[in-house]
Order: sequence, then structure tokens, then C-alpha cells
Amino acid sequence: MRHQIDDSVSNEINEIVTSPMSATPRGITSLVGDMSRHASGFYYVWQDTDGRLLAGNLPALQPQVGIREWSDEHHHRAADEMSAIRGRGITISGRYLFVGWSTHQLLEMSEFVTAAFGWGFVASLLLALSGGAVMSTRLMRKIEDISETSRIIVNGDLRQRVSVQANGDEFDRLALSINAMLDRIETLMNGLREMTTDIAHDLRTPLTRLRNRLEVRDQVTEPQLHQVLADARQDIDGILEIFSALVRIAQIESGGRKSRFATIDFDELLDTVVEVYRPSAEERHQKLIAGIDPRLAITGDKELLTQMFANLLENALRHTPHGASIHLTARREGSQVVVAIADDGPGIPEDMRSKVLQRFFRLERSRTTPGSGLGLSLAAAIATLHDATLQLLDNAPGLRVELRFALLANQPPQPR
Ligand SMILES: Nc1ncnc2c1ncn2[C@@H]1O[C@H](COP(=O)(O)OP(=O)(O)O)[C@@H](O)[C@H]1O
Ligand SMILES: [Mg+2]
Repeated sequence: MRHQIDDSVSNEINEIVTSPMSATPRGITSLVGDMSRHASGFYYVWQDTDGRLLAGNLPALQPQVGIREWSDEHHHRAADEMSAIRGRGITISGRYLFVGWSTHQLLEMSEFVTAAFGWGFVASLLLALSGGAVMSTRLMRKIEDISETSRIIVNGDLRQRVSVQANGDEFDRLALSINAMLDRIETLMNGLREMTTDIAHDLRTPLTRLRNRLEVRDQVTEPQLHQVLADARQDIDGILEIFSALVRIAQIESGGRKSRFATIDFDELLDTVVEVYRPSAEERHQKLIAGIDPRLAITGDKELLTQMFANLLENALRHTPHGASIHLTARREGSQVVVAIADDGPGIPEDMRSKVLQRFFRLERSRTTPGSGLGLSLAAAIATLHDATLQLLDNAPGLRVELRFALLANQPPQPR
């Protein structure tokens, strides 16, 4: 502390001595006078050769060069704690200049700083401890909740969920993400279970047919044998097709294909599908009429979308009689595009419309037409992947399949 006083006192003296005003004793008088009036805690004495005070804020002193210290009558603190004035004296052409500082001020300042630090430390320690305690109980409760939920799920109840407090904090967001993940797992597990049952059930028919076909009678001619083999090969192709469709649906429902999404010229894609099916329509004397708005851009998987519209057009051709009319339209409606495949065939009764979307489901009357009942399931899975809605509606007469996709922004409608 003394060291600090000596340093600042020396600086103060330096400032006085190097000031241009200190060229004359008179200059020093007015400088020191000024400084003592605006005293910033310093004490000053500036006195004449005969000991007369010229300026300052202390009484005249016995001129004594160098460091000096004496007790400060005005600032006695507690009995044992004497405060003192300490400073340095110099002579300037016979006159005496003293600059000093009271240890009393320094003590007060250091006490203040110590107290401020002390209280600040205690307050922040308390805050940290109580905050930590609150956080850790909350954290422990949440973690316990999550592990309890996991235990229940591991024991076989996939419907269990982590509770959400609706505070909107990090814990809630964590709980929500975990629950979303569990929803997804549950959907996938249910899908898997259903699919396994479906496969076991629905592959039995074609496999039995194949088996019966191969039960060849003893007396068989070579051309007959060739026919049997050709038919068997066709059956096997059908079974393989079912497998690849099932794998595709599973793949799409798992959402993995979203990584292949890109911007697509939807109108071009639809035009292409229509042109591919035009020859088969003509073969069946059916009219295929397209009305597609230009410049329809969406994001999606080109290959899957082509597959979906191929399935829907194929259904409209296959499940309607000769001479039927099939319309494929794509119309811009606000920020959406509505694609409809409408025919004037027998249609699907209302109570069957959700069923035909399930895997392997075919209407009774369709048993004799080729197919495996997977076309609409695949279309529905592709629509879901694209966040599109798929509706089966009455075209009175016939079926109208309507799909709504979100158009990409910044595509101004083209004047037609
Ligand atoms: N355009 C349509 N008109 C009438 N019935 C249809 C039409 N499209 C589909 N269906 C019915 O829905 C069933 C399921 O269709 P889908 O899943 O594509 O299987 P698939 O065509 O292989 O039979 C068909 O078997 C048929 O009974
Ligand atoms: Mg089909």
C-alpha cells in the first residue's frame, strides 16, 4: 500500500515539475492552488524560502526533502487504526513542495473493494449452488422419466411415451424428439408386422398355383412340357414382381428415399407417362385425354413419381372396359397442383376405397385381371413421401384419383 502511495505521489510531482507553468515560482503557486482546489485525494504544500505557505491544502510544514509520513489528526479511525499522511517533499530553487496522500482514503477504498468482491462472490456462489440444485433435480427427474419409458418399451409396450411438461424448454424439446422417434419406430414396426403377415398370406396363392402347375401327369408330350415350363416361368416372374414391389413400398415408407429429392418439371413427367401408355390405350380402344398446365415445378423423386402415375394409368386402363375414356389433368390451384386420373369405368364402391389402398387388396371382380393388389399401396406410399394427398373419388360413373402436391415457389402462372 505504501508503495502505491509513493508511486502516485511521484507521478503527481512529476506532473507539476514538467508542466510549462512551473517555469516560474508564481506559475507553480497558481498550478498548486488549482490542484488543491480540485483535490482528487492528494494533499499539497507549496511554501516560500522562509516557510510561508504560497498554495496548498495543508498547513505549512517543516521543509524536509524525501519521503515523510505523520499521523493524520483529522482521520483517526478506531483507536488501534491510526491513519497517516504520507508523501514526498522536494525543493525547487530553495522553495519547498510537498505532495501526499492519506492512508485513510486508501484504506477506505481497499475496504470497499474487498467488501464488493466478497459480497459478489457470496452472491454468485449462492446463485450457482441453488441454480445447480434446481437444474440437477429437474434433470434427474427428466432422465429418470426417460429411462423408465425406455424400460417399459424394452419390455414390449411400444405405445409408451415420455411425458412433456409444455414449458417449451430444452427438456420438452428433447422429450418431443424422443416421442417423435418412438412414433416413427412404432409405425415402422407395425408396418413390418403387417407386411410379414401379408406376405405369408398372399404369396401362398401364386406359390400353390405354381406347385400345381408343376405336378405333371406321366403321359406328357414335349410341347405340353414346354408350355408348363413357360407358364411356370411366368408365375415366378409374377412372384418376383410382388417381392420387388414389397421391398419398394418398405423402402419408401422408411423415408430413406427423401435424399433423392430434386426439382422436377412435373408437367413434362406427366406428359411422358401419358405418351408411354397411349399405345396400350389404343389397343383397348380406350381414349386417353391429357390436360396438363405448363411450367409445374415440384420437389420429388422422379423415378417414384413416374412409377406412381404409371400405376394409376395402368389401373384406369385395366379395370375399365374397352372403349372407356380416361382423363389425366394437372391444374394449378393457388400454391398447389391438382393431378387427377379419371375414368368412366365401374369405379370403386365408397366403403372399399380405403381398403384398396392396403397391400394386396383387390376387389372381387378384379380377381381375373392380372395384378397383385400392390399398385395403389405403392402409389399411396409415394404420395405420403411427397407430402401429397391422395383421394379416391366418385367420377359418376367411374373412379377419380385426385392428388395434391405443393408447387415450388417463384413459378409465376403462365398465361394460357
Ligand atoms: N380405375 C379403377 N377402376 C375400378 N377399380 C379400380 C381402379 N383402380 C383400382 N381398382 C380396384 O382396386 C384394386 C387395387 O388396385 P391396385 O392396388 O392397383 O392392385 P391391382 O391393380 O394389382 O389389382 C384393384 O384390384 C381394383 O379392384
Ligand atoms: Mg394396379
